[in-house]
Amino acid sequence: MKITSPSLDSTLTVSVTILIHLRPFTPQKSPKITEILDQLTISPDSMIFLHNEFRNCNQTPFCKRARSRKPGACPLVAIDVSISNGDLVAKLIPKEKSEENTENGENPIKPLVLTISAYQDGIMRLKIDEDQNLSPRKKRFEVPDVIVPDFVNKKLWLQRLKEEENEEGIFSVVYLSDGYEGVIRRDPFEVFVRESGKNGKKVLSLNSNGLFDFEQLRDKKEENEEWEERFRSHTDTRPYGPQSISFDVSFYDADFVYGIPEHATSLALKPTRGPGVEDSEPYRLFNLDVFEYIHDSPFGLYGSIPFMVSHGKSKGSSGFFWLNAAEMQIDVMGPGWNNESVLMLPSDQKRVDTLWMSEAGVVDAFFFIGPGPKDVVRQYTSVTGKSALPQLFATAYHQCRWNYRDEEDVYNVDSKFDEHDIPYDVLWLDIEHTDGKKYFTWDRMLFPNPEEMQNKLAAKGRRMVTIVDPHIKRDESYYIHKEASEKGYYVKDATGKDFDGWCWPGSSSYLDMVNPEIRSWWAEKFSCKNYVGSTPSLYIWNDMNEPSVFNGPEKINFIRLLIMNLILIEILEVMLISARDLSVVTMPRDALHYGDVEHRELHNAYGYYFHMATADGLVKRGDGKDRPFVLSRAFFPGSQRYGAVWTGDNSAEWDHLRVSVPMILTLGLTGISFSGADVGGFFGNPDTELLVRWYQLGAYYPFFRAHAHHDTKRREPWLFGIDLVQERNTELMKEAIHVRYMLLPYFYTLFREANASGIPVARPLWMEFPADEKTFSNDEAFMVGNSLLVQGIFTQRAKHVSVYLPGEQPWYDMKTGTAYEGGATHKLTVLEDSIPAFQRAGTIIPRKDRFRRSSTQMENDPYTLVIALNSSMAAEGELYVDDGKSFEFQQGAFIHRRFTFSNGKLTSSKMGTATGGNNKFASECTVERIILLGLSPAPKNALVKPANQKVDVEWGPLLLRGGKGKSFLTIRKPNVRIADDWTIKLS
Ligand code: NOJ
Repeated sequence: MKITSPSLDSTLTVSVTILIHLRPFTPQKSPKITEILDQLTISPDSMIFLHNEFRNCNQTPFCKRARSRKPGACPLVAIDVSISNGDLVAKLIPKEKSEENTENGENPIKPLVLTISAYQDGIMRLKIDEDQNLSPRKKRFEVPDVIVPDFVNKKLWLQRLKEEENEEGIFSVVYLSDGYEGVIRRDPFEVFVRESGKNGKKVLSLNSNGLFDFEQLRDKKEENEEWEERFRSHTDTRPYGPQSISFDVSFYDADFVYGIPEHATSLALKPTRGPGVEDSEPYRLFNLDVFEYIHDSPFGLYGSIPFMVSHGKSKGSSGFFWLNAAEMQIDVMGPGWNNESVLMLPSDQKRVDTLWMSEAGVVDAFFFIGPGPKDVVRQYTSVTGKSALPQLFATAYHQCRWNYRDEEDVYNVDSKFDEHDIPYDVLWLDIEHTDGKKYFTWDRMLFPNPEEMQNKLAAKGRRMVTIVDPHIKRDESYYIHKEASEKGYYVKDATGKDFDGWCWPGSSSYLDMVNPEIRSWWAEKFSCKNYVGSTPSLYIWNDMNEPSVFNGPEKINFIRLLIMNLILIEILEVMLISARDLSVVTMPRDALHYGDVEHRELHNAYGYYFHMATADGLVKRGDGKDRPFVLSRAFFPGSQRYGAVWTGDNSAEWDHLRVSVPMILTLGLTGISFSGADVGGFFGNPDTELLVRWYQLGAYYPFFRAHAHHDTKRREPWLFGIDLVQERNTELMKEAIHVRYMLLPYFYTLFREANASGIPVARPLWMEFPADEKTFSNDEAFMVGNSLLVQGIFTQRAKHVSVYLPGEQPWYDMKTGTAYEGGATHKLTVLEDSIPAFQRAGTIIPRKDRFRRSSTQMENDPYTLVIALNSSMAAEGELYVDDGKSFEFQQGAFIHRRFTFSNGKLTSSKMGTATGGNNKFASECTVERIILLGLSPAPKNALVKPANQKVDVEWGPLLLRGGKGKSFLTIRKPNVRIADDWTIKLS
């Protein structure tokens, strides 16, 4: 993860390097360009360039300043600590008023206002801002629309303050929850959560290392570099001067910290500072359209969630969330990072220190006490919201490519799936389906009858998705642009003009989605009437919403223009424009949004608002009766309420397959359950082995979609049938997709769990086995729910794989039914036909084993229950079913069953939920097979009650297709309905 420091290449050299790296390009390039490109080869330098393409901490003034601060540098002390309106309030002032404590000698540091609030479920909120009574230059930006209204109602009314004094100073203490207290130390100021009592152990703390700093907005008294910021040839004005905030946060009794997506890196975050870490960048949170990201790097990708979870063997988990949408950089300090420091921190508690730095905003931070990993996720999602429940179809397999060319291509792909007996649910259309990249339009030469096309697919129970990006082509004949510019709906540049940047359509402007009025206007565009050519079975893909601006300051995006297949003249023209624009730049940090908010203050939330508006549009289109499906590339805390996200433009490389696991697990930990990576890899051509392995792993991603760049070879699963060996690959991909369809009832039940509790579908092993240290840094295997463990195969021609199976109970191979001991590492032979997946003993997994064309056609199919017994011959599991599409489930229209097996009896009972299951949803579906793993001795028959019917217990296969010979005890056709209460007693 070492990032080499950049040399500032000249613009032209840089662009040529990109040209080299990105070869081959498009069919439409001019002969001249082809010639140039053909003479160039990929050089290692181009990779170095990719590292250097983005701004690093040293080139980012606030980050550089914060990183250079020494422990104990914070001069602030807390005064006037009291209780007011149910909160603890205090002022922060410099201890000694001196020349050092003024900025420029003329801008004295004014007192800051600190507020601590307590909320139910063990959540403490800390706010620090400038004092509004002292007339700051403007109100600093606080991100609206992220905290869910329910959370606000969970506020506890703090009554009293307890004062304590010891050799370390004076402390004010408030009640937080049973067993925990919130504490503020006066001098030096420090805020922490501890276990109750004077000597209670610390859980989480802020400013224990004295690195807190808060740059206040200032009046411009003189011209100097503080009022602007340069990156390469780009300059951003800073009309309020530097306004960054930074502080240290310590996680006690923690072995590792996790979270803060999005980075292509390990699940357990590696230290970025401290002994043995040379020259690493901090983890950057800055939503960026990163071209060809590298697989192990702290650079920020498309989305940002400033939420970190700690975990350790002795204490469990805690969490820290900073609601702030400006660029953030976060350092994870390795042990010994502050050996030189004179500060005394508790030495008997293991600790992970972190440094949080943000360019702007306020401190609005949440401390979550845990103590288990699931508690922390529950607490975090009680603030930012639970995952939306997707429609059933969206949890099935999606087929995407940039691009399916025309209607004929669509029909052909669709029918090939049927011909090869491969199920799929959704076919996607990328940007080329539009008329000149004007979203909500169709290229009518290629797609003359879009409604008919969607209806034909819908008749088979399939849906389509089209892409709608946030850049709006500045074309007077385009109705969206016309209306948006007339209404003044675009983001403005610093001079107040509509901001004009380059993206796929060329010159584009960007809707100011932070404004609720503009969001409602946008939402209306999705009605079938307004979106001409759309039907109710069409759903939406929001891409490029970081927002991506090709000629932006972060990188030399001529590359994008090349991808846009511009001819040489256009490229040269654009290069000239861009060369000029590099000094004026597009979507700069000083661009202006609704309410005079600078882009720098809300950058990371832009894509979130766009996603929100689009999802609202689909809800409105369906008159509140159809759950939306919107995939977004950019994300922010709360995005889970609006739809799915994917990990962007990965590459067809084994390392990218591997990193997809920690990336998806991290998203889940930070609230975004519905995520996936492009199966097959977006860039490049995977060989068939990699492609097969990707399907085998992707079948367990919460969001399962194959996607590819337009310059790659076609790779739909049936395209490998040139000979018998190759046909086998098609078979393997098909089998992988079948596994997903078979497990849809289990996945859907898990999506409902995420919707109700925030607990993600895909989970790190330590979420299920929090006391097992061997799981803490394992990010090659993961849990799907609490019952399935999946181990990826990430190397070519792998012969063996080591799989660690945690816990004391055995695990059953999903395919063969073979039992493996828990709490042990097993060296297994790698098979070509599947990746290792195991059912945990003590669980029951619901499946649907009949294979259809799409999930829609499986609606009335009967279920199979797979019961994996633990050493006490017991097991339990759940099944959640609803209509798969509407919001009726919120009114209780669902079936939610609990299955328990003990003493030789399987019982189906209603899950005790407060709101639901009150017979508003009916299903005639039955259970057709019950497979018992690990049962002895073998029973002969079973008695079904209340029907009082005897059924035989037979030996049967574990899987109807692709299983391995062995037989297992099976109750066939017990004919019980999943909606009913029943028991089946073995005898
Ligand atoms: C970038 C996205 O990440 C990719 O998935 C998409 O195919 C292209 N944009 C074109 O829309």
